[in-house]
Order: sequence, then C-alpha cells, then structure tokens
Amino acid sequence: MDNKPGYSQFAGEMLKQLPKGIFLSVSTGEEINTMTIGWGSIGFMWQKPVIIVLVRPSRYTYSLLQKAQEFTVSIPLNSEMKKSLAIAGSSSGRDIDKFGTLNLTAQPGKCISSPVIGECGLIYECRVIFQQTMDPETLDMDIREKFYAHEDYHVMYFGEILACYKNSQAD
Ligand SMILES: Cc1cc2nc3c(=O)[nH]c(=O)nc-3n(C[C@H](O)[C@H](O)[C@H](O)COP(=O)(O)O)c2cc1C
Repeated sequence: MDNKPGYSQFAGEMLKQLPKGIFLSVSTGEEINTMTIGWGSIGFMWQKPVIIVLVRPSRYTYSLLQKAQEFTVSIPLNSEMKKSLAIAGSSSGRDIDKFGTLNLTAQPGKCISSPVIGECGLIYECRVIFQQTMDPETLDMDIREKFYAHEDYHVMYFGEILACYKNSQAD
C-alpha cells in the first residue's frame, strides 16, 4: 500500500498542531526516546516529500538521531496530549523513560524501526537524507540574539517521508 499521497493532504493538520507541539520519536535499536518539537517544515525537494525538523545538539534525541538517521513524527489531533507534550518537552530521555512515564504506546513503524506514538492520530515516518547545522554567520542577528544566546544552534534534519497515515488506533 502506498502511504505517501497523504503527505500534502494532511500537511494542514500537521502545521496547525506544530506550534503547540508534536512528538519526534527515534530508536537506535538499543535506545528509544521521544521529545516535543514546535518548529519544522513540510515540503517537496529532490523530487521527494520532505519534513524538516530542528533539534539542538544538547537534546538527548540529537545523539539518537545521529545514530539512527531516521525518525517519526506523531501528531495528536485532539487536546488530550497537552500534558504529555509539556513533559516530553521539558524532561530528558537521559533521565526518564518518557514512553513508560507518560503511558505512551510505542507502536512499530510501518517502514522504519523508530516507533510511532499509538495515541496520536496522524503519523509521518522519515529517513534522514540531508542534515545541516545552522550557520550563525548567515543568520539574522535578531534571531541569533533571541534564540541562540548559548550558541546551541539547531541541526536541521531533512527527512524523506516514507509513510504518512492516519492512525486508526487513536481517536
Ligand atoms: C512546545 C515545545 C516545542 C519544542 N520544540 C523544540 C524544537 O523544535 N527543537 C528542539 O530542539 N527542542 C524543542 N523543544 C524542547 C525539547 O522538547 C526539550 O528540550 C526536551 O526535554 C528534549 O528532550 P530529550 O533530551 O529527551 O531529547 C520544545 C519544547 C516544547 C515544550
């Protein structure tokens, strides 16, 4: 079954939830984690549907992404996940098992090894095809001062969308 056509069909739902937080999940095979992201983009490049996520190197998720080179994005389509998004966005997988603590179901991905969150209604599965650390020299000075006082510049991960689907297990 081709799961990709939905990537643009559901983009509006993803972009609407993004500023409020969505889950970025990664597994290396040995380690598994999820974190909240509020920045990102979805589009089309290199003849592929692509999601861009921005992760600071200080995040535990960064070290997993570097190894796994793949990720999933799980988007809650109702407001029930608000508390989980807040905790996944303020605690680190270095200190707690977020899936266990937040009672999140790590459902197997359809195309990749990284898990998707069973309680979320919209899912993207991605393989990293390009990554780039932000170059402060080319960054607007106001943005630099506002967001990068500690010079923890985001790494942008460009993920080819391998699958995009509504998760029937979530309401
Ligand atoms: C609403 C919200 C959006 C966030 N967006 C991002 C983001 O886009 N990129 C990022 O690096 N951190 C973002 N964070 C912060 C991380 O989620 C947070 O530092 C988290 O504890 C990292 O978890 P980890 O150490 O387990 O990877 C966001 C936090 C919240 C609450």
